Amino acid sequence: MGKTALITGVTGQDGSYLAELLMEKGYTVHGLVRRSSTFNTERIDHIYQDPQEPGRKLVLHHADLSDGVALVNLLRELRPDEVYNLGAQSHVRVSFDAPMYTADVTGLGTLRLLEAIRASGIDTRIYQASSSEMFGATPPPQNEKTPFHPRSPYGCAKVYSYWSTVNYREAYGMFAVNGILFNHESPRRGETFVTRKITRAGARIRAGLQDRLYMGNLDAVRDWGYAPEYVESMWRLLQRDVPDDYVVATGVPATVRDFLQAAFTAGGLDWTEHVLFDPKYERPSEVDALVGDASKARDLLGCEPAVRWRELAELMVEADIAALDAELSGARVRIDR
Ligand code: NAP
Ligand code: GDD
Repeated sequence: MGKTALITGVTGQDGSYLAELLMEKGYTVHGLVRRSSTFNTERIDHIYQDPQEPGRKLVLHHADLSDGVALVNLLRELRPDEVYNLGAQSHVRVSFDAPMYTADVTGLGTLRLLEAIRASGIDTRIYQASSSEMFGATPPPQNEKTPFHPRSPYGCAKVYSYWSTVNYREAYGMFAVNGILFNHESPRRGETFVTRKITRAGARIRAGLQDRLYMGNLDAVRDWGYAPEYVESMWRLLQRDVPDDYVVATGVPATVRDFLQAAFTAGGLDWTEHVLFDPKYERPSEVDALVGDASKARDLLGCEPAVRWRELAELMVEADIAALDAELSGARVRIDR
C-alpha cells in the first residue's frame, strides 16, 4: 500500500508541484481546496482525476484553514501518513491590508491543523511551510539559528506558526517540522509576486500589449530558487528519522533590479525604457535582504538547489512568452512546467 498525504494549499504554486511529486512517488494525494466563486484549480487541472475514476490518486476536498471542525473531520476520515501545510494568505504586501485575515489563516490556521491532528488521535507527520520572511530585519546570511525579526503581518503570522509547530513537537511528541524556505518561483508563480509580475510584463511588452511596468523597491535583495526543487526538500524533511527544522535556499543574492534586467534582456527588451516607480508597491516596512545559509539541509538532507536566479528569470520569461503566444493564437494554455 502506498502512503497517503494531505496537502493544504494544493491549488497554489508549491501545492501543485508537491502533488505531482508525491503522485510520482506512489502516494495517494488528498488536496484541501477552499471554496471560490470561480475555478481555482488551474494549476492542478492537468493531474485532476474525476471522482468516478477507479483507484484515483488525487482527491480534492472542500475545506478552509479558518474552519477547525472541518479540519478535524477531514483528518479523522483520511488518516493521512503525512500532512503538508502549504495553505496561507501568502502575499506580504496584501498582509498589510488584511492583517487580521492573514493572522487567522496564516497563523491560527496552523494551530487549527495541529490541534485537529491531536484531536483526531491519528499518527501523522506534519510539514509546516515556514518562511525566510520571519528573519525580516535580521541581516544575512540567515540560518536555523538566526533570530527572527518579522517586518509584516505575514511574517508575524509565520513566526506564530513556526513556534506552534515546535511547541507541538516538544509538548506532544508530534513529528512536526518547519521548512524555512527562501523565495522560490516558477512559471506557476502567482502573477502579483515580483518575479512573475516582471516576466509576465516582459512577455506582454514584447507582444505590444502593454508598454509600461510600475514597480516598487528595486533595491531589495532576495535569494530566489526554483519551486520544483524546493518541494522535493519538503518531502525529504518528512522522511528523516528525527523531526527538525531546516533552511532551504540557494545562498545566491540578487536585487529585484538584477532580476528585472535579466528577464527583460532574455525577452530582447531594455528594462529602463519601460519601468516606472509607483510608491503603491512599496511596503510600510520592507525586508531589505534575505540570503540563506542552507548548509544544514545540504549536509543532512542532500538538498542542493541547482537553478540560480538568472536561469530562473530566463525560464520564466520563456514560459510567459510561450503561454502568451499560445493564448494569442487561440490555443489552450497549459502550465505544465
Ligand atoms: P500560493 O501560491 O499563494 O498558494 C497558497 C495556497 O493557500 C493556495 O492554494 C490558496 O488557495 C491556499 N489558501 C489561501 N487561503 C486559504 C484558506 N483560508 N484555507 C485554505 N487554503 C487557503 O503560495 P506558494 O508560493 O505555493 O507557497 C506555499 C506556502 O509556502 C505558503 O504557506 C507560503 O506562505 C509559504 N512560503 C512560500 C515561499 C515562496 O517563495 N513561494 C517561501 C516561503 C514560504 P487559492 O488557490 O484558492 O488561493
Ligand atoms: N510583489 C511586488 N510587486 N514586489 C515588489 C514590487 C512589485 O511591484 N516592486 C518591488 N518589489 C519588491 C518587494 O518590496 C520585495 O522586497 C521583493 O520585491 C519581493 O517581493 P515578492 O515577490 O512579493 O516576495 P516577498 O519576498 O515579499 O515574499 C515572498 O517570499 C517569502 C519568502 O521570503 C512570498 O512568496 C512569501 O509568501 C514568502 O514567504
